[in-house]
Amino acid sequence: MMPKRSRLGDVRGPISNGPMQSRPLVALLDGRDCSIEMPILKDVATVAFCDAQSTSEIHEKVLNEAVGALMWHTIILTKEDLEKFKALRIIVRIGSGVDNIDVKAAGELGIAVCNVPGYGVEEVADTTMCLILNLYRRTYWLANMVREGKKFTGPEQVRDAAQGCARIRGDTLGLVGLGRIGSAVALRAKVFGFNVSFYDPYLPDGIEKSLGLNRVYTLQELLFHSDCVSLHCTLNEHNHHLINEFTIKQMRPGAFLVNTARGGLVDDEALAVALKQGRIRAAALDVHENEPYNAR
Ligand SMILES: NC(=O)c1ccc[n+]([C@@H]2O[C@H](COP(=O)([O-])OP(=O)(O)OC[C@H]3O[C@@H](n4cnc5c(N)ncnc54)[C@H](O)[C@@H]3O)[C@@H](O)[C@H]2O)c1
Repeated sequence: MMPKRSRLGDVRGPISNGPMQSRPLVALLDGRDCSIEMPILKDVATVAFCDAQSTSEIHEKVLNEAVGALMWHTIILTKEDLEKFKALRIIVRIGSGVDNIDVKAAGELGIAVCNVPGYGVEEVADTTMCLILNLYRRTYWLANMVREGKKFTGPEQVRDAAQGCARIRGDTLGLVGLGRIGSAVALRAKVFGFNVSFYDPYLPDGIEKSLGLNRVYTLQELLFHSDCVSLHCTLNEHNHHLINEFTIKQMRPGAFLVNTARGGLVDDEALAVALKQGRIRAAALDVHENEPYNAR
């Protein structure tokens, strides 16, 4: 039988930051902003700014020597990418989702993966409400009409322009995922008069009672009775393209769809078809599977 390896000791060497050693190298892999982290790191580490889209753009010195990596969500670290880093011990995702890192492979390599769980909870919930309200009340389109010079001279024109505006009170908002952001959206949506339902199979029984929400136990049930579906679950290996041709058919005809979670949860092609057919009345997407998004 193979002797059991100590978890970190044999996988990665010690971090070389003793008194006789040079300062450890920490790399910001993608993006350029680490204004929160920099004041803390500047006294204890050398920080390399890689501004990379993929690990092939990262300098060899960083691949060989960086013990820490900070990253936003625009670079992906697969097992092969992680193996390129020879001294890496910790990755910090500046954000909550870790779906762009192969966490299992990182664990096998002895690289800890950390995130910032409360990142943007209130802001994303506010943005979600803003998108939902816009879908219902069409304020964005109405403001654009005025900006483009449209004049409203009588009640008929106002009525025509406002066609498609929908009443919120009594409609059902269905949330997929009731974690930090999903709960924050639920609290806001209740105030606007939505009946709020959610589907989240990972939460303990009774949570629906504390928050005064309607819980359903299958995605199908949620899609079937929601007038607006908003996605707030993490993206993982089980729910890629959770909203697809099949599940869209389970939605109410003419329902709204909102996604401020992760682009990979929605099959864009199937959504485009459903929008063209009017099966989904309108969608508001803050995230896309391939970013930056190219409108076609
Ligand atoms: N748009 C942005 O700028 C932005 C910013 C922050 C977070 N996010 C994204 O928002 C999402 C939610 O973040 P959070 O902080 O609330 O995460 P969280 O971990 O607090 O909550 C996620 C919830 O989703 C549930 N869940 C997982 N898989 C599910 C499934 N298949 N069906 C139903 N529920 C499922 C989990 O049980 C959990 O309760 C994440 O995808 C995150 O990446 C987006």
